[in-house]
Parts: sequence; C-alpha cells; structure tokens
Amino acid sequence: MSKIVINSSNPLNGKVEISGAKNSALPIIAACLLTNGRNILENIPDISDIRVMCEIMQSLGCDVKKEGDSLIIDSANSKPNIVPYELTGKIRASFLVSGPLIARFGKAKTALPGGCSIGTRPVDLHLKGFVSLGCHYEIDDGYVDISGNKLTGKVIYLDFPSVGATQNIMMASVLASGKTVIENCASEPEICDLADFLNKCGADINGAGTDKITIYGVDKLSPVRHRIIPDRIEAGTFMTAAVATGGRITLKNVNLTHLSSVTSKLSEIGASFNEFSDELTIYCDRTTKSTDIKTMPFPGFPTDMQSQIAALLCNVKGTSVITETVFENRFMYIPELIRMNADIKVDGRVAVINGNSKLVGAEVSATDLRAGAALVIAGLCAKGRTIINNAEYLKRGYCSFTKKLTDLCADIYIEE
Ligand code: UD1
Repeated sequence: MSKIVINSSNPLNGKVEISGAKNSALPIIAACLLTNGRNILENIPDISDIRVMCEIMQSLGCDVKKEGDSLIIDSANSKPNIVPYELTGKIRASFLVSGPLIARFGKAKTALPGGCSIGTRPVDLHLKGFVSLGCHYEIDDGYVDISGNKLTGKVIYLDFPSVGATQNIMMASVLASGKTVIENCASEPEICDLADFLNKCGADINGAGTDKITIYGVDKLSPVRHRIIPDRIEAGTFMTAAVATGGRITLKNVNLTHLSSVTSKLSEIGASFNEFSDELTIYCDRTTKSTDIKTMPFPGFPTDMQSQIAALLCNVKGTSVITETVFENRFMYIPELIRMNADIKVDGRVAVINGNSKLVGAEVSATDLRAGAALVIAGLCAKGRTIINNAEYLKRGYCSFTKKLTDLCADIYIEE
C-alpha cells in the first residue's frame, strides 16, 4: 500500500502541463477494436487505468505498443475472447469493449465491471441499447454474454444521460444497418472526442455534444491517428488546489470550453483567471467565500470534481451546500475530511460544509480516485503533516501527480 505524505505547504506557484483525458482515452482505446489495423493515439496519460485497458486489449488479441505518450494499437488480429474478472474488476471502463466487439464479431463476453465504489453502477442502460439494436444477452456467474448478428439501427431513449452507455451504444451501432438515434444521451466532451475519432475512421455520427446523437451505419472503419483531448478533471483539480492554497498557477494544455462550470464556481469562491491560447493562469488574491454546488451531467458541474471542491470549501468564509445527483454514494471521503477538523454534515445526497474550519493534518485514507485528490487538496492547506493511505487510487487517474505538485512548490511525496 503506498502513501502520500504532505507537509504544510506554501501557496502553489508555477506552471503545470495537463495530460490527456483518462475518460476520453479509455473508450477510444476500446474503439480501436472496430478497425482492422494500426491506430496511433497521442496524448495518452501514463496512469494505471490505461495500463489495465491495454491489458484488456491484449487479451482480445490486439498488439499494443507504447511510444512516449502515444499508444499504437493494432487490432488486425483481434478476437472476441472472454474478458475475465481479474481485468474487468479493476476498471468500470472495461465494459466499453463490449460495444465494439458486438459490432465487429457479433458477440462479447465480459465479467461485470468493477471500478471506484461510488455507487451501484449498473450497466442496464448499455444492455437496453444493445437489445434495441437486435442483441440478446444472458448474465451468468458474473459474466455478461451478449450476441447479435446483423444489428439494425433503432431509436434508443436513455432514462439517464449515461456517459458509458452513450459511448457503448455509439460503438455498437457504427457498423449496424440503417440509422440509430440515441435520445437523452450524454453530451460530455469525452463523447465528442469519441465521435471525432470514429468519424475520422469513416463513421457517420452527428449530434455529439447535444442530447441527441444520430448514427448512420457504415460498412467498415479504417485505422487513424488521433490526439486525445486534455483532461478537464485533472485541470479542475489543479485549479482547485491553487485556490485552496491561495496560490497562482498556469495550466498548459487546457480546453476552457470544457471547464466553464468549474471556472464559474471557482470565480464565485474568489478565483481570478487570465486566459491565453491553451494556457490559463488562475490565482486568488481575495477572501474566499462559500457557494452552493449541484453535480449534473455536462454542461453541469461534474461529479468528478465534487470532492475536490468540498475540500476547498472547508476553508472559505460561510456555509456551502453540495448536492450530488449523479452517484448515490459519493460522500465516502467526508469522514476522512472530518478527521482533519472539517465541519461537514451529510444527509443523503446533500452535504453541508461549514467553512472557516482550520484544517489540521492527520492520517487518512483515500476511498476512491477523486476522494484521494480531495484529501491531497485538504492536506496542502492543512496545518501539520497529512498522510494519505491507499495512494494507489490516485495513480488510476492522475499522471505524475506528486511530481507535478512538487514542481508547483508543494511539500509532498509518495512512499511506495
Ligand atoms: C463516466 C466516467 C466517470 C464519471 C461519470 C459521470 C469514464 C471512464 N468514467 O462513468 O469518471 O464520474 O461518467 O460523469 O468515463 N447508470 C445506470 N445504468 C447504466 C449506466 C449508468 O443506472 O447502465 C447510472 C450510474 O449508476 C450513475 C449514473 O448513471 O448513477 C451516471 O453513470 P455514467 O454516466 O454511466 O458514468 P460512467 O460512464 O460509469
């Protein structure tokens, strides 16, 4: 078990380069199964979730090579092998290989996915979409066995704009006959990145980024070179850490249109911004104050930024209310913040944070990836030493996190 140790830090200061988006890279890696050849994916973050996804692709017969921050994925010899629990149990995105496998081979068998414990996280919407396209499935012994030859486009309405279901149904339907429409679909930037990749490969997808995507099936897709978009959650995490420590940092490789809900909340709290091309400088020279936040699907405030903002709101003037609407179990980090003297009350999906608490260092444990990031932010502005157990969680989604923070003058290190 690795630990992160943080000593009372100075305000963050300097420049940080944001990596490629984990949540874009994972589905696009899976989408390489739809082509029959060598794809080159650039700006891939060096994180453990990507390494697991590469192992899954290898288990399906793909040849995967890493060159710098690029992945070369040759799917010419891929096969619809069974993906075992030892791989799917590690990341929820493992289930995203099922859409491409059904489209290309007419079948997919994967163990039900695992991932961060932030809710029950079913896959019923993915399966509902596959069934509409003409598939059958059985769940037996923890494995989902899906089959369906000659998929046919349909109108599919999602009860919730699930990111994963939208991606999986898009990938399952690109080679189907006729027209598929996904209504009430997700509109996250990572959906647009996947659609851009697939369209470069020869797919005919319209409407990505809105709540209705239309897909006209094509006969085949060809391999391409594609650059993954910057990680908006990594960027938001560094921005929040800068405000929490009263610092001034410049983020390089950011797309501000993906971050407007986060920047507008940080500016309500007290942050100021200077934008220049793909760089953003954020600083905080005012008294920080409370705000209320409700997580929502894009373009609402991202659930993946909820815990980091909560850590910041522990140290501002006034009382803030956070409402989590996307996942039912995303406040597990709060008892850990309370160990650090935070004053937070939780009632169901609502957390009331009384700011003005002077955080103090303590030994705490990360309960999931973003919870770990929240504890790092709390540790950076706490008095004394903070030790964060289960630091492996952070390696799932943050590339060189402690190194990037050290370069921004934080007193932080990792003990393997
Ligand atoms: C993706 C992101 C994750 C982010 C989440 C919401 C990846 C790899 N992960 O996860 O970081 O927190 O979007 O922005 O991209 N749901 C169902 N049935 C389904 C599918 C989802 O009920 O079949 C529910 C989930 O339990 C959850 C909600 O829908 O309550 C949102 O989940 P979804 O958008 O699917 O998230 P993921 O794609 O798993």
